[in-house]
Amino acid sequence: MTMLATDSSADQFSIESIRGDFPILQQEVSGRPLAYLDNGASTQKPNQVIDTIADFYRQDYSNVHRGIHTLSQRATDRFEAARETVREFINATDTTEVIFTDGTTEAINLVAHSYVRAHFQSGDEVIVSMLEHHSNIVPWQLLAEQIGLVLKVIPINQRGELVYEEYQKLLSDKTRLVAISQVSNALGSITPLKQIIDDAHAYGARVLVDGAQAIAHADVDVQALNCDFYAFSSHKIFGPTGVGVLYGKQELLDAMPPYQGGGDMIKVVSFSGTQYNDLPYKFEAGTPNIAGVVGFAAALDYVTAIGFDAIVHHEKQLLDYATTCMQQIDGLQIFGTAQHKAGILSFRIDGVHASDLGTLLDHQGVAIRVGHHCAMPVMEFYGVSGTARASLALYNNKADIDALVAATTKATRMLR
Ligand code: ALA
Repeated sequence: MTMLATDSSADQFSIESIRGDFPILQQEVSGRPLAYLDNGASTQKPNQVIDTIADFYRQDYSNVHRGIHTLSQRATDRFEAARETVREFINATDTTEVIFTDGTTEAINLVAHSYVRAHFQSGDEVIVSMLEHHSNIVPWQLLAEQIGLVLKVIPINQRGELVYEEYQKLLSDKTRLVAISQVSNALGSITPLKQIIDDAHAYGARVLVDGAQAIAHADVDVQALNCDFYAFSSHKIFGPTGVGVLYGKQELLDAMPPYQGGGDMIKVVSFSGTQYNDLPYKFEAGTPNIAGVVGFAAALDYVTAIGFDAIVHHEKQLLDYATTCMQQIDGLQIFGTAQHKAGILSFRIDGVHASDLGTLLDHQGVAIRVGHHCAMPVMEFYGVSGTARASLALYNNKADIDALVAATTKATRMLR
């Protein structure tokens, strides 16, 4: 198949040099070079991250904020330097606005159980969209049961785009929060975030952005967006698992009660009354994932050094190439054809079960995800139980896509 090559993007950065940074990509699976196309689920880690974590454990590791000794001070310095790296990466105003969590899910739950529980009442409305991942649906459903929140849902059209007029109709003086993903993990649709936020603010509502699928693929500037909260995970941007961030505007975080009690989130504990710590520590009870946070900063440095202009260009070229090639497979239907779309290709093939396809692709060295992608309402909308999903990252190349196309073509022949 002669198709648009993505190699032009290699002018902007050396894809082979980038791939060389990721040792896990250098292996064969089922006797074929690994084509790792499951980046929506989790991304691989470059040597820069792996070595940073290993060196930190070898040289500087200790607990943070607690010790007078040299290692504790070094570890604390590295931990707090990582907070500054995150601040700069998302352009937060101050490091007090950067709360380390164990991931996007915990960050969303922190907003639900601290901000919303403390300030919302029965009948207050939270708007989400049909595109959301379960982690941006179920916390609000729990609060609907517990405190009587009313959940409203922005519908999508067949292309997997929000029906914006319906969002505008849902907004009212009862709307207290809009909780919305920047990029759909199941379809790749990019939501019109700035407009969503401005329209919500016109009604006095706050906006929480689920940035899990966006953070590695778009330049995020929380001040330019003017979002109130922004949640994301390290493992989706080449960092370790078990670390994430909740960004919140300082005045909102200040007015929120602690989410969990424990060490580090207090100034004074007494049975006559406990005084909580200042931001950001008020929300960081217990020993954090110290090495994880240090590795996360190394991942952000890695991405910054490449730059989003090059990343976005490369992934767009690759998505276009993959879409064009895959569409030539007989009976293949793509779910998610939004005008603004990130590097996710969700598809089904007539007469082929997605999980059978996933297994046969794995037997040819191609790693994709199959199923509902923790976004069952999206599957319900399309009337399917699941899809096959190839999701891209900066290290994918044309050979990965060619492997996907060849393996899917062969599997389809075998399964029909
Ligand atoms: N949320 C992750 C995905 O989309 C796990 O696969």
